[in-house]
This record gives sequence, structure tokens and C-alpha cells, in this order.
Amino acid sequence: MNSLKKIIITGACGFIGTCLSLRLLKHGIQVIGIDNLSRPGAELNAKELAVERKLFSLHQVDLSQTSKVYELFSSIGEVDAVFHLAGQVAVTSSYKNRQKDFINNVVVSFNVIEAVKRYTPEAYCLYASTNKVYGNITVNKPIGNSYPLNPYSPYGVSKAAAELYFTEYGRKEIGLATCSLRQSCIYGHHQYGIEDQGWVAWFSIANIIELPITIYGDGQQARDILFIEDLIDLYLECIENRVTGVYPVGGGVTNIITIKQALILINRITQKSFTCMENSNVRPGDQPYFVADTSWTNRLGLNWRPQVNAEQGIRKMIEWIQCNKNQIRYIIDSTHP
Ligand SMILES: NC(=O)c1ccc[n+]([C@@H]2O[C@H](COP(=O)([O-])OP(=O)(O)OC[C@H]3O[C@@H](n4cnc5c(N)ncnc54)[C@H](O)[C@@H]3O)[C@@H](O)[C@H]2O)c1
Repeated sequence: MNSLKKIIITGACGFIGTCLSLRLLKHGIQVIGIDNLSRPGAELNAKELAVERKLFSLHQVDLSQTSKVYELFSSIGEVDAVFHLAGQVAVTSSYKNRQKDFINNVVVSFNVIEAVKRYTPEAYCLYASTNKVYGNITVNKPIGNSYPLNPYSPYGVSKAAAELYFTEYGRKEIGLATCSLRQSCIYGHHQYGIEDQGWVAWFSIANIIELPITIYGDGQQARDILFIEDLIDLYLECIENRVTGVYPVGGGVTNIITIKQALILINRITQKSFTCMENSNVRPGDQPYFVADTSWTNRLGLNWRPQVNAEQGIRKMIEWIQCNKNQIRYIIDSTHP
């Protein structure tokens, strides 16, 4: 960490970007955030980060605007790393508007990696990919590096395309240090979860501020959920060791939880029942089961393994929601008046 001085984070005011920024700022590292603040809640995260005026700066730029991206990266110059987290993040929205999904995932990612090549080619580049690039997984076992790429939804396709660009820019013809992590479900503080994305946060928010929820499918969909601070630990180990390649990431076999189990756990922690619970058909692109095989971290000599189990993590997230419930309610009311 001592060698890191200056880092670019795209999507810096989103959930993962905010938590990563806060951690880097704590270590005295200068963070240059880029975000168009399109995600409801991002403005609040931006206000919180702005307190760190000496080390944090925010550029409110839409990364799909190629010339603006080059202008910005050219003005920033050399940095130690670029974490590319900005993008369209929901499977459901990708079905509603494929073009928007394509622009915000493929065009944006291409602009970012090309800007890195032009203006800061020595920077370590990490891309937040997704387990959705595997498509409809038919086996109930941890998914490792060798499982084939076979995206099903438009979101899976656009994230896979972006990831492939990162991989190609890492080949010898260009030679950038690129890494893509195919993330499972990440949850935690600063996550403004909605019905379309961030289901653990969404169900917790709905329980606390008394909103109706719908369970799509039988509620037996299983995920190896990973607490945000564990993901950040892994990001930092990757950057310190300049890990390159493409790897699946999640909470692993010790953190598997189904939707129904999560609802029971949330209910037990808050001591509150859900106001109204409806059932509907499973949504397209929803994997019935995903667990990441993270044994690659050991093979690469990293010390990483998740430290926060599902119950501890959901408790911490719920504490954050309780403390911020008025502003969360305000964001939900202003997004869906
Ligand atoms: N949260 C998860 O469980 C999860 C799982 C797998 C992959 N991911 C990936 O991790 C990354 C971060 O996810 P997150 O949960 O923090 O999402 P988020 O929506 O909270 O953050 C994304 C940020 O990107 C910004 N953004 C979107 N389009 C932009 C554009 N064109 N220009 C500039 N900024 C733009 C948004 O305003 C937002 O602040 C995403 O790429 C997502 O696909 C997240």
C-alpha cells in the first residue's frame, strides 16, 4: 500500500466505489473519482466523500463520451491504478433497454481501457465483472476459472464484452496489467439496493422502511454473498500483487444463502415482519445457483479469504440502513414518486 499514491476510480460514488474510496482515503491515498451520478444515492455518497477535500476529487463525467474521457485522463496523467466500476448494473434494466446497457458497459469500458493505454499505460487496471458472464449455470457446485463463458442476459453479454476488452488490452501487443473479477452478490453499507439490483440490501431496506416486496421464482435461488469490506480487501491484495487475469469472486461455500433464508435472517435481525410479500415468476437471466471457487487466491499466494460471514455482514448492513433510513426513504420516494 505504501507505494500507492494516486488512483482513479470510475463509478466512485456507487456502492463499491464509495467503499473502496473510503478505504483508500483512510490510507492517505489520493482518489480521483469519476461518476455521472446516474445511480440514485450516488449524490449522497458523493457528499460524504467530498468531506475528504484534500485527497478526494470528483469529476462528474459521462464515461460514454469518448472525447471527454480522453480529455480527462490526459489532464490527470499517470496514476498507480484504475479501478473500473462504473456501468449499467442490473439484469432487468438490460432487458428493458439493451442499447443503454451496451453503451454504459461496452462503450464506457472500451473508452476507459483505451484512455489507460493512451495516458497511463503503467497503471494497474481492475474491472468489476460479474458472475452473469457464465449464464445459466446448470451445476450446483463452485464455479472455477475453467467454467465456460456463456452469458445469457444482455447484461451478461455486455459485461463479458467489456471484460474481454480488458483481457485483450492485457495481451503482449498492448501489455497493460489488467484483471477482471467476476463478482457474485456483493452487499453492505452505502448500498442503495433496489428491486432491480442489490437484492440483500433491497430486502433489508424494504423490511426496515416498510415497503412491499416480490419474490421472483421459488425463493430457493442461492448465492455465495460477499461483504463489501472483504471484497475491498481482495481488491487491495490484487493491486499489491499486480494480479492479472480473470477470476470468479464470492463469499464461497461458507457463505451460501438462499433468498428465503435471507428473508428469515433479516426478519430475525430487525425483529420486524415484511409488510407485504408477493410471489411472481422467476425473472429471465436469474441464475438458480452461484458459488465462486476462490481457490485461485491461494494458488496465487494471496492471503485472502472472507472474514465476515453472512449473518455478521447483514447485521452490519442493517445498522447502516437504520442510521440512514430517512435519506434512503427520500431517495426511493424521489425515484418512484
Ligand atoms: N454490487 C454487486 O453485487 C455487483 C456484482 C457483480 C458485479 N458488480 C459490478 O461492480 C460495479 C460496481 O457495482 P455497484 O454495485 O457499486 O453499482 P452502483 O450502481 O452502485 O455503482 C456504479 C456507479 O457508476 C456510475 N455510472 C453509471 N454509468 C456511468 C457512466 N456512463 N459514466 C460515469 N459513471 C457512471 C453510477 O452513477 C454509479 O455511481 C459495476 O460494474 C457492477 O456491474 C456489482
